[in-house]
Order: sequence, then C-alpha cells, then structure tokens
Amino acid sequence: VFGHLARAPEDPILGVTVAYNKDPSPVKLNLGVGAYRTEEGKPLVLNVVRRAEQTLVNDSSRVKEYLPIVGLADFNKLSAKLIFGADSGINIVKQQVIESSNVFSSRNHVICCRDASYCLILCSPAIQENRVTTVQCLSGTGSLRVGAEFLAKHYHQRTIYIPMPTWGNHPKVFTLAGLSVKTYRYYDPATRGLNFQGLNLSCFLHLHGLLEDLGSAPSGAIVLLHACAHNPTGVDPTLGQWAQIRQLMRSKGLLPFFDSAYQGFASGNLDEDAQSVRMFVADGGECLVAQSYAKNMGLYGERVGALSSVCKTADVASRVESQLKLVIRPMYSNPPIHGASIVATILKDRNMFHYWTIELKAMADRIISMRQQLFDALRSRGTPGDWSHIIKQIGMFTFTGLNSEQVTFMTKEYHIYMTSDGRISMAGLSSRTIPHLADAIHAAVTR
Ligand code: LMR
Repeated sequence: VFGHLARAPEDPILGVTVAYNKDPSPVKLNLGVGAYRTEEGKPLVLNVVRRAEQTLVNDSSRVKEYLPIVGLADFNKLSAKLIFGADSGINIVKQQVIESSNVFSSRNHVICCRDASYCLILCSPAIQENRVTTVQCLSGTGSLRVGAEFLAKHYHQRTIYIPMPTWGNHPKVFTLAGLSVKTYRYYDPATRGLNFQGLNLSCFLHLHGLLEDLGSAPSGAIVLLHACAHNPTGVDPTLGQWAQIRQLMRSKGLLPFFDSAYQGFASGNLDEDAQSVRMFVADGGECLVAQSYAKNMGLYGERVGALSSVCKTADVASRVESQLKLVIRPMYSNPPIHGASIVATILKDRNMFHYWTIELKAMADRIISMRQQLFDALRSRGTPGDWSHIIKQIGMFTFTGLNSEQVTFMTKEYHIYMTSDGRISMAGLSSRTIPHLADAIHAAVTR
C-alpha cells in the first residue's frame, strides 16, 4: 500500500550525523548537530546530572506512575523561575538596590544595574502575581509544537514571523501546527552581524532590516525570537537593540514567542542569558517561551523542556493551562518522568544548582576558547578573509560564511561534516581537531 512513496530526504541537521556515521575515515569530524563534546571528542554527562540520578535511584519512595498531563509540578515551577527570575528574591535584590547607586525599580520588579549601561533583571513580577503557566514538554521542539498548536487553535492571528535564517526545524514545526510562516530580516551576510536597520549604500536607500520587517507585520502577529545564542548565526541583538525590538512589538501588539534553547551557553551566566525574555515580561508584557534542557544540562536524549505562557491575570493563566492540557492529551498523553526529575532535583537543591552553574560555565568557556583557537589557526595560515566573526559570534555555533560548495568540498576531501549553510558546532571541536578544520577551511577558500 505504500509502494507509491518517494524516499524522503534526510533531515538537514540530523542527516549530517547519519552521513558522518557512514564515513569510515579515522579523521572524520562531526560539526553538524549542536551537541557538546569534551576535549577528547566525547559526549559529556554532567557530574551534577550523575549526582541527581544517584539521588533519584536511592529514593525508594519513587514510583513510575503517569505524570499529570502538564508534567511534574516542581519542574514546571522551577523552570519558570529559571527563565523569568526569582519569585521571592525581592528583599535580597533590594539590598543591592540600597548599596548600588545605579539601580532603579518599578512596580513589583527590581532591575539591578551594575553600571549605567548594564542592568540585570533578577525578579519576576509575572511569577509573583501567578500570571505564568508552565507545562512540561518534550524538550524545545515539543514545547514549540505545543505552543504553536495552542496558538493555531486559540489565538486570533495565525501568522508567525521567524528570523531569516533560523533553526531549520522552526518553519516545519509552525507550518504543521497550522500557522502561516513569514520571515523577518535578521542576519546580514555583508557584516556577518545583525541586520537591524541595514543601510544599503550601493543604492543609497535606507533599508531597515529587522525593524522594518517587524514594523510592517500585521498587528497582533506572532514573532519568534531566539532568547540568546541565535541558531544558526551566533548573532544576538544587544540589550539596547532588544529594548527597541520590545518597544516596536509592544506598539504593534505583536506576540513574542521565545525559543530559549541555550540559557547559560551564550555568556556562561543563566541570568544574563535570560535578559531578553525578562525585559519583555518586566513591564507586564505577555509572551510564550519554549525552554530546553538539552544543551545547558546535557540532557539531549531525555527530551526535557517546558512551555510557559505569561498572561495578563492569574485567572487567564489557569484557563490557558486548561486548554494546553487539551492540546497535549491527544498528542502524547503526558510527558516522561525521568529527565524532568533530574532537572527538578538539581534546580531545587542549592548545592547542586551551584555545581551546575560551574559545569555550565566550563562548557561555555571551552566553546569560547575553541573560537579563539580557530580564529588564531586561520590567521596563522594567512587564510584570506576577515574571520573575526568567529570570536564575535556567541553560543554553540559559528556561521562561517562558507558556501554549500565549500562545505561539500570540506566533507569530500577532509571528512568534515557540517550543515550546508556553513554552520559549524563549536562544541564539537577540540584543540586536537582545530588544525584539521583550519586546513580544510583554508583549502576551501583558496582553491
Ligand atoms: C541543532 O540545531 O543542531 C540542534 O538544535 C539539534 C537539532 O535538533 O537540530
């Protein structure tokens, strides 16, 4: 009965691993999928995750019953606090307010400024006012899909604007959920930076990139925003640019849908990487947020994530939750227990949480050092071009600027595997493999 079916192509990201696995070369290198590797090129299970698992195993009262449709209650509460900020830290932060000259507070939230240009939002009025509902989902993808299905069913605007480029799975997730997908300009290949309000000098026209595209989106449209460490470009707006994006979106009533897959991976600091989201929520704004623990806790295969909706009132939030249950139940009934239990164990234990932040920072720092080493290796080879974007971009990926022919060449001649858009996972590199990659890039751009 399925004889008529054509063979579907491999996934553009996960298919890279399929091709890599088939290559018998001893020097092969997989820089395709965004998965952290150690200096020895091995997958890493965080020590804190092992400790949490041990705690769970030792607890004989634990059972394998079904979770509720919305998942583990502790996990949901703690996940919301991780991304939106503390629910009860106001006095502690106020302490800092008194001590610091550059601090202001408004309504129930406190913004703590380290200096005149740098503020950290640490507390969440939305959580304090019970205006957030959080449901456990199957990692980032599952959270996006549940959010998209909910929006397609209940939100008055079915158009979602996604950045150009974006993670390859985004358009598929949203289209299949019933949303209509449009793009907004995000990356400027000429500057290898953000196309914020691009100026096209060649024809003396002001082309306002991202701001113009969001400014001309229909009122109420949904906008997908990468909370930090934009995938695939590694280019994030500055806090000042985030403030402008928020202002524009607020004035047009655009609904933010954040994808937060790299909290802690961009700066090495969980609070700093959540600032974009917290800024949108700080003054009463509504939004959706999809969180993933794949990268920042290394729980890739456990599929642990959460979808949060920040609402106007606590009553709306609880009605949203009741409707999310109707989305989830016919899809997968309820989520798995193990991964979420690991996360909850770590987030609720002060020591484990602290230990996690150290291990997370170590991963982020190793990636930053890979950036420097690759940049130095290309410079020492005299590779033509300005490779400074390698050290400027942040997060797991470098958007190299290599084209698909160059990528094919590097795969064929050097057994280096990466996505055809020239994205490389910096987390897959080590000091040992950097010379090989630098040789391949040099050969690809000089041939
Ligand atoms: C990636 O972009 O490599 C990761 O988010 C993994 C995936 O599922 O695509």
